[in-house]
Parts: sequence; C-alpha cells; structure tokens
Amino acid sequence: MEDIIRQLDLKRAAARLGGGEARIAAQHAKGKLTARERIELLLDPDSFEEWDMFVEHRCTDFGMAEQRVPGDGVVTGYGTVNGRVVFVFSQDFTVFGGSLSESHAEKICKIMDHAMKAGAPVIGLNDSGGARIQEGVAALGGYADVFQKNVLASGVIPQISLIMGPCAGGAVYSPAITDFLFMVKDSSYMFVTGPDVVKTVTHEEVTAEELGGAVTHTSKSGVADLAFENDVEALMMVRRLIGFIPSSNREKPPTVPPFDPTDRVDHSLDTLVPDNPNQPYDMKELIEKTVDDGDFFELQPDHAKNIIICFARMDGQTVGIVANQPMVLAGCLDIKSSIKAARFIRFCDAFQIPVITFVDVPGFLPGTAQEFGGIIKHGAKLLYAYAECTVPKVTVITRKAYGGAYDVMASKHLRGDVNFAWPSAEIAVMGPKGAVEIIFRKDIGDAEKIAQRTEEYREKFANPFIAGRRGFIDDVIMPHETRRRICRSLAMLKDKKLENPWRKHGNIPL
Ligand code: COA
Repeated sequence: MEDIIRQLDLKRAAARLGGGEARIAAQHAKGKLTARERIELLLDPDSFEEWDMFVEHRCTDFGMAEQRVPGDGVVTGYGTVNGRVVFVFSQDFTVFGGSLSESHAEKICKIMDHAMKAGAPVIGLNDSGGARIQEGVAALGGYADVFQKNVLASGVIPQISLIMGPCAGGAVYSPAITDFLFMVKDSSYMFVTGPDVVKTVTHEEVTAEELGGAVTHTSKSGVADLAFENDVEALMMVRRLIGFIPSSNREKPPTVPPFDPTDRVDHSLDTLVPDNPNQPYDMKELIEKTVDDGDFFELQPDHAKNIIICFARMDGQTVGIVANQPMVLAGCLDIKSSIKAARFIRFCDAFQIPVITFVDVPGFLPGTAQEFGGIIKHGAKLLYAYAECTVPKVTVITRKAYGGAYDVMASKHLRGDVNFAWPSAEIAVMGPKGAVEIIFRKDIGDAEKIAQRTEEYREKFANPFIAGRRGFIDDVIMPHETRRRICRSLAMLKDKKLENPWRKHGNIPL
C-alpha cells in the first residue's frame, strides 16, 4: 500500500510540475503566473477539486509517444468563489505551449457538461499556442467540440474567459462566444490570423500587440470587455464579476444585504442636467448617485463610450444598467454602441437581471460610415434586444429622447414596465432647431422668425408632459428621488411574469 501511495504522490507531483522548472521560470519571466497559481488566486483558499490530472494525449506521431505530461496542458476542476461553485479550466503554457489536443479538449468539455448539470459558471483561463500541431485534425475536432458546448451553454450558465497569453486562430472562437472576456495587458493577444499572415496577404505591417492586444480589443474591436495590468488584477476582477451574476438561468442573482437606504435622496442630481441642452454632463454621476453605495461594475468602458453598460445593485439586488453618455458623441446611438448594449441586455434577460435604462439620446449618428456600415441592421439589434427582453425594465429619461432612438431605449412601447422622466426631459421626433428648419423651411432666411418658431416648438414638445398625457411616461419625477422611485419599482416588479410566444428561436438581425 505504501508503494501505491508513493506512486500516487509521484504522479501528482509530476502533474503539478507541468512542463518543468525551466518552463515555469520562463513563464514567470514573462510576468505570467502558471496555470495552477492562477487557479489558486481565482478560487477561495483550498476549495479547488482537480479532475483528470492523469489524462494524457494519445498522439504517437512526431515523437509524441515519448512526450507525455500528465494533465496534458490544462488544469480542470471546480471550486468556489465567495462560497459559490464555479468550474474552471486553466491552460498550462509550460506543457506543449498550452496547445489543445484531443484529450485537452475532452477535459474542457467534461467540466462544461458538469457545469451545465450543476448550474454553475465556467471560467476559462486561456494561455495556449492553439491546436496541437502534432495531432492535426484530432485537435481541430477538439476545438469544435468546445465551441458546440459553448453554444449550448450560452444563456444557461455564465461563461467567462480570461486571455492570459496567446490565443490565435480557431482558439479565439470559444472565448468569443462566452459572455465576458477579460484580457491581460502586454502578455495576451487574440487574432484569427497573426502579423506574419497579415503581412503576406495584405502587406500591412502590424505587431501582435497592435493587431490583437488587450488595448486593441477593449477599445477598437470591442471583442474584450476589460483589460488589466496583470494576471492578479484580472483574476480578482473575475471574482468581483461573479458576485453580481447568478450561477445559472435557473436562479436569481445573489443579493448583498444593502447598507444604503432605498429612500436616500440626492439633491445634487437636481442640477445635474445643464440649462443649455447642448452642454454635456457625465451620466456616470447619475449612476454612481443612484445605485447602492455608489458601486458599479462597468464593462467595455473604453469601447463605444457613448453608451455605458454596467452591473450594480439596487436594494441589494443586481441590476444591469444601460445609459447614454452625453459626454461622448452627445450620447448618440451608433453601430458599436447598439451592438454593445444589445448583447448586454440579452445577457441580463437570459439571467433574470432587471434592466435599468437612463436615456439622454439625441438620435442615431448620421453619416455615410454609419449607413454603409449597416446602422439600420445594427441599430435594430438594440431595439430587438429591448423588445424581446422580459425581465423588469425601468427607464428614466433625463433629457433628450428624440426620434427612433426614443422608441429604442426601453420605451413604454417596447414593454418598459416603469417609465419615468425628469422635468428636463424632451421627448420629440427631433430637437427644436432641426424640427423648425424642416417644417418652417420657407422662413429659414428670417432669423427672428426661426428663433420664435424654435421657442414655440420647444415649449410645445421639448418636455415630458405630452408623452405623460398619453401614458407613455408613468410619472415625471424629481431627479433627487430617482433612487427611491427605481427601488420601489423594482420591489413591485420582483415577481414579474411575462413570456414571449413559443418559437424555436427568434431571428435577431445579425
Ligand atoms: N502545438 C504544439 N506545440 C506547441 C504549439 C502548438 N500549437 N504552440 C507552441 N508549442 C510548443 C512549442 O513547440 C514550445 O515547445 P518547447 O517548450 O518544447 O520548445 C512551447 O510550446 C512554447 O512555445 P514557444 O514557441 O517557445 O513560445 P513563444 O512564447 O515563443 O511563442 C507562440 C508562442 C504561440 C506564438 C508560438 O508557440 C506559436 O506560434 N505557436 C504555433 C501557433 C499555431 O500556429 N497554432 C496552430 C493553429 S491554431
């Protein structure tokens, strides 16, 4: 028996050593933690239960029969984050560059299956040279198996990806399907084809960092949600994110006992909106002053900044917030912001998270770039997401709600449950100046007349009461009472039931 125990210890020690001391040192030299160190930081102390430590690859080509490392380049299992179960896989770059073999893929698929059964999130820590080259199509099949699981798990359990090293070629598509994607600055990159291929095909000279680094994907492409300075920060932020979301679509998000009174008023909000309708203000100030303890978790803060998406809590309950940002492009909707908000709303809807919308939107961004880029189709995504969404929806119009964008932003017509407006709200087909220049085109040379008509239009339409008269706005509220009114609305909507008609699935404009 002692022998057997010693053998087990030796086998475990070999697995824990991964690709060996030298490669671990090389990993550290790059500022990266090892697969196991990352899991230690991510999970609660001593909570990790490892599976499949003794799995090995089955490849015999290219001398692979002699090169077997227990675990085969990925550490998998489950543990807890603040006491809640999560499943995790962590690719080990020290073993064949973390490359994905058939067995490596099977390990990932196994924990995904269990996560679906247990109703717990899957967190993938990606650090891999891609498909195991020696295995050929067996490795490619492995990727497709993972993709298939990602798709089936979408909307059932939250899926979170951290990119902590290379992630190229087919490897990018599993993280791309997952709900949240975080990257580590300088040590991670993602691209479908790397700089060398790009150079050959398009003659463009670009570095890996420029092409697919964390900054590129969190600002330009919008592929990633957040970029962090190092592994530790990225892992801590995953723990924070987990605190906001439910473990599966079978349960409600976790609640945190609130310290912040629901009837707290904030008089500074009464002067947030400037008198001049063209002057911007920071919508984040409204979010901060409204949510529990001023604490919110923003996603994609550097991409499509004209719309803000974040998680926060109201009376201890998680909410998703979508808000136009007047500081950027005057808060216009465009292609990127529509897509950004639409996907966030769909996550909230799938996971029973109420959606709060703060509206100050002058319309859709004009221009050939937008029209040629398909703003019609992409703007429709946001409209579709709001219209399809059945979770509680509370909307507050702070200032402008013009044109089609008024309809889109969780209006009463798209089944907004509670729609408030501040007294400063202007709900109209367009702004007074634009409106007058069209309907009084003949007076356009007469500045005085135009000014008079503009004032007339402003008085008539640039207020919340016309919409209020039709019941499109449930109440005009004072800005300082926004928190209290939203909290009450959410309490009233706690057991909201609303179902869409049965269908295999809708056909959202992609
Ligand atoms: N399959 C098998 N082994 C791989 C691999 C892969 N896809 N990618 C990396 N490795 C191995 C390397 O052979 C090396 O092994 P060694 O430690 O025994 O020498 C180890 O992983 C580390 O790779 P290395 O190239 O030394 O690391 P690096 O940090 O300099 O570069 C990459 C990392 C990912 C840029 C580079 O390894 C690479 O280009 N890999 C191939 C990527 C690819 O084309 N994948 C297939 C398509 S999806």
